[in-house]
Amino acid sequence: MANDPHNPDKGFSHRTIERNVTLLAALSLVVVAIGGLVEIAPLFWIDSTIEKVEGVRPYTPLELAGRNIYMREGCYNCHSQMIRPFRDEVERYGHYSLAAESMYDHPFQWGSKRTGPDLARVGGRYSDGWHVQHLKDPRSVVPESIMPTYAFMATRPLQAGDMRDHLTALRRVGVPYTDTDIAKANDDLKAQADPEADTESLKARYPKSQARDFDGNTQELTEMDALVAYLQMLGTLVDFEAAAPQETAK
Ligand code: HEC
Repeated sequence: MANDPHNPDKGFSHRTIERNVTLLAALSLVVVAIGGLVEIAPLFWIDSTIEKVEGVRPYTPLELAGRNIYMREGCYNCHSQMIRPFRDEVERYGHYSLAAESMYDHPFQWGSKRTGPDLARVGGRYSDGWHVQHLKDPRSVVPESIMPTYAFMATRPLQAGDMRDHLTALRRVGVPYTDTDIAKANDDLKAQADPEADTESLKARYPKSQARDFDGNTQELTEMDALVAYLQMLGTLVDFEAAAPQETAK
């Protein structure tokens, strides 16, 4: 009998494996390798782990500049941009975040702390004027707010650098900017916040992009313009009303 308790050394039993550390290590490796293959190997044969979602597009140069200010100021230390699929979150913030919605984010802004509310779908929730006032003096619109003031952005000219280089760098890591997008990046940056500018080409290349003077000061392109343009587009690209019913299930 292989498993005879009175004669344990006879035959090949689990006891044999447990008492031979080399054999145990070798067999453990085989088991882990099988598990690893099953999990990892398929990733080499699929093009993307992110399901494509209609409406998601790369950021416009102005939104990108605003996003850079968002990162520079560390807004992510207090704000997440990731709505989890739980009822309390969905009721408060809207449809839970989809992987595709941050597929062009380098780096992503999911965040891990919510001192303030999630901002993944803040776009369109308030007017531009509200955002400007709130950023200049949060307590003037939300008396109990503990958010810092960012009044300096209203007067600081936007110095975004050469946006063509920025878009080129992003294209290298997979963001599908076209040659036209890159060539026109610096013009697009200015045009989006200039009510006088012709934004037809911008809007055709970046569907659902919003073009207007964002900070209420038409004289100058400020950091406030860029940041508000960014905040106002967050979560507005995917049309969840038109999505399949199971997609919008709450
Ligand atoms: C110290 C933490 C902190 C930092 C840093 C911070 N915020 Fe806030 N934010 C808050 C809090 C708290 C609230 C909620 C109270 C209020 O509306 O002011 C808030 C609210 C907001 C809201 C309104 C959200 C809503 O749905 O009502 C926006 C928009 C916002 N913050 C943007 C920003 C931006 C942009 C930055 C960076 C420039 C930033 N915050 C930095 C704490 C912070």
